[in-house]
Amino acid sequence: MMIPTPHIEVKDKNTIAKTVIMPGDPLRAKFIAEKFLENPVLFNSVRNMYGYTGTYKGKRISVMGSGMGMASIGIYSYELFKFYDVENIIRVGSCGAYTDELNLYDVILVDEAYSESTFAKCQSGYESDIIEPSEKLNEQLRTAAKNLKIEIKEGRIHSSDVFYRENFEVFKEINKKYGCMAVEMESFALFANAKSTGKNAACLLTVSDSLVTHEATSSEERQLSFTKMMEIALEMAE
Ligand code: ADE
Repeated sequence: MMIPTPHIEVKDKNTIAKTVIMPGDPLRAKFIAEKFLENPVLFNSVRNMYGYTGTYKGKRISVMGSGMGMASIGIYSYELFKFYDVENIIRVGSCGAYTDELNLYDVILVDEAYSESTFAKCQSGYESDIIEPSEKLNEQLRTAAKNLKIEIKEGRIHSSDVFYRENFEVFKEINKKYGCMAVEMESFALFANAKSTGKNAACLLTVSDSLVTHEATSSEERQLSFTKMMEIALEMAE
C-alpha cells in the first residue's frame, strides 16, 4: 500500500509499467488498452483520467490520458516520473498543420518543441524556448515505424498555451520565425519534466486539422484512424 499522489491513486506503484503511452483523451487511453493490450487493468480513475496496464506482445505497458494543455500533462507526467518510477513517456496526440506540406492523418515524430510558455522556466529554471525529446526514444520510434512500414515525418512543432487565438494568423509568423510545422499543446511541458527528472519522453502526432487549408477530422474519424502512431509507440516499447 502506498500513499497516492494528488492526481493518481494506485495501490502498488509496480502497477504502472516503466513505459507509459499518453494520449490526451482518457477515453482514447481506454480505447488503446481495450484494442491493443492483453489483460488490461485499470489503475487510475481519479478525475476520470483513466490509466491502464496490460501486455503487448509480452511486454508490460501502461497507457494513461494526459488531459489537454501543458498544465495538465505537466501534472500527470511529473507524478508518473517522480513518484511511480516511470522511465519513458510517449505522448500520442493530434496536431494542427502549419504548412500545406502536411496532410490530414500524416504522422509526425517530434524532434524539437518550441513554446512561448513559461512552463520550463517556472518548473526548473530552464531558459530556452526549445526543448528536445529523448534521442534514444526517437531512434527506437524511427526503427519501429520502419519495421511497420509506416511513413513518418520529423520536425519541430509549436506547443501552444492557447487554442483559440484572437489573431488566428499569428501561426504564419511562428511557422516562419521558428520553423514549426504544426501545433499542439503538450510536448514542451512533457519534455521539460523529463529533462528535470532525468527521464525520457517522446511524442508522436497525427495531423487532425490544418490551419492552412482549414480541413479537419471528426472526433469519430480521429478515434478510428489514429491507430498508426499507437502501433509505432506500442511496437517500440521495451
Ligand atoms: N491539436 C490539434 N489541432 C490543434 C490546433 N489546431 N491547435 C492546437 N492544438 C491542436
